[in-house]
Amino acid sequence: MTDIDGISSEGLTAASLDGRLFQFAGLAESTEPGEIVLLHGPGGVVQVGQVDEVDFSFEGALRGSGRILGVVSDEAGFDSRHSYAFAVAAMTDADGATVEAIHESSGATLEIGSYLASAEIPARLLPHRFNRHTFWVGQSGSGKTYALGVVLEQLLIHTALPMVIFDPNADFVRLREIAAGAGESDAAGAIANRDIRILRPSSPDPDSLRVRFVDLPMAAKGAVLHLDALDDRAEFNELVHLEETLGTLGPEAIVPRLLERGTPAAQALAARIENLRVTDWRVWAGELRAVTDIVDTRPDATVLDLGGFADPDESLVVAMAVLDDLWAKREQRRPILIVIDEAHNLCAPEQNSPLHVAVRERIVQIAAEGRKFGLWLLLSTQRPSRIHSSIISQCDNIALMKMTSPLDLDELATIFGFVPAAMLARSPGFRQGEALFAGGFVPAPTMVRIGTRLTREGGADVRVPVRDE
Ligand SMILES: Nc1ncnc2c1ncn2[C@@H]1O[C@H](COP(=O)(O)OP(=O)(O)OP(=O)(O)O)[C@@H](O)[C@H]1O
Ligand SMILES: [Mg+2]
Repeated sequence: MTDIDGISSEGLTAASLDGRLFQFAGLAESTEPGEIVLLHGPGGVVQVGQVDEVDFSFEGALRGSGRILGVVSDEAGFDSRHSYAFAVAAMTDADGATVEAIHESSGATLEIGSYLASAEIPARLLPHRFNRHTFWVGQSGSGKTYALGVVLEQLLIHTALPMVIFDPNADFVRLREIAAGAGESDAAGAIANRDIRILRPSSPDPDSLRVRFVDLPMAAKGAVLHLDALDDRAEFNELVHLEETLGTLGPEAIVPRLLERGTPAAQALAARIENLRVTDWRVWAGELRAVTDIVDTRPDATVLDLGGFADPDESLVVAMAVLDDLWAKREQRRPILIVIDEAHNLCAPEQNSPLHVAVRERIVQIAAEGRKFGLWLLLSTQRPSRIHSSIISQCDNIALMKMTSPLDLDELATIFGFVPAAMLARSPGFRQGEALFAGGFVPAPTMVRIGTRLTREGGADVRVPVRDE
């Protein structure tokens, strides 16, 4: 084989005109999008790059392109602030030590699994970049909830960022319980020391999931009763006046008061409350502690088991109460991560009941303006179209699991322009538990095999009962 400047044409050779992007070609067994590589340039300069695209030919030649991430040296480790153009460099796979140097320089400490391309290299996220909104998407069964659990555990271990978890399927109600096999580890010990509150509709005080009707803002009370301030002027006005005399009472105390008043509007409002059966809802606090009071004490994690209510509107009332309260107190600038699994339950574009609209509008507002107040969203769903577009467009981090629909992938490519197309294209081939992370919370777009949960899963898949032979 001939040599170009001492570099063998066997193997891969790269060139960069601008010190940002590089092209490569040559003979090699394989390389794939997302792979971290070393570019050994003239004068002993070694740069780190990431492969974006690869073309194969059947003659065994490979060509492709990528981005330069920074310079690496024995003395200084990894430095992402500099990169250089070069006419020719030998391209080799990066070893685990280089990848760890990148993690260290960017502060990526949350170990969530391993690189898809090399099982021995840990994959890590940057905890301090959860100060942006995160969109988590993948088809049903792709492993979103499981992977979300892995990430939340790491945040519990490595940060003091409180989180509130909207949990529609009781998937996180065992977040306090260490899984068999993780018992003795330091990480498990750290989780055992965290203040994790599990609030469920059926639990006794102080762990019951309850909302105080009187604490809801007027617009939310109106939404509960399907009342519009203008279309239903008279009844809404009754509610406004009633507000002053309610004290800590719930809706059940309202009806007798209204009947006492005896005006036509009061009678209409009483009938409405009875017809909607909101007085039967279990969600009202009465003498019990309200969820907003508990979240306000800043536990490390508060899991809200939303699936345990008889009426779906009750879980919307919980979401409304918590989100409104966080928004009302935004000027306190206390950071919190708002995790919403199955987020389409709370912010689907097509839902138009008054409560749905009220909750969605609050989430739209938090997506647009919450970031600077420390209100950071992490929203998980099956398809991008299931979430209102003005919410997704505010997300800077993305986790993508298996998704086969080309339409959905096109939509993601449009919204998240920073994700390399060749990596997005890998998603249909992902197995369960494989994911692509991109955005500020990873040093570079990374395909990951998610690691093992330290805590117990709540609602694992139901199995088909099989008869013994
Ligand atoms: N990385 C993993 N390791 C081991 N088991 C996993 C992993 N990911 C998922 N599973 C298992 O696969 C099943 C489905 O995963 P999961 O509930 O996370 O999917 P999902 O994407 O949240 O689906 P849905 O959209 O229907 O909620 C669960 O029983 C879970 O235990
Ligand atoms: Mg799920």
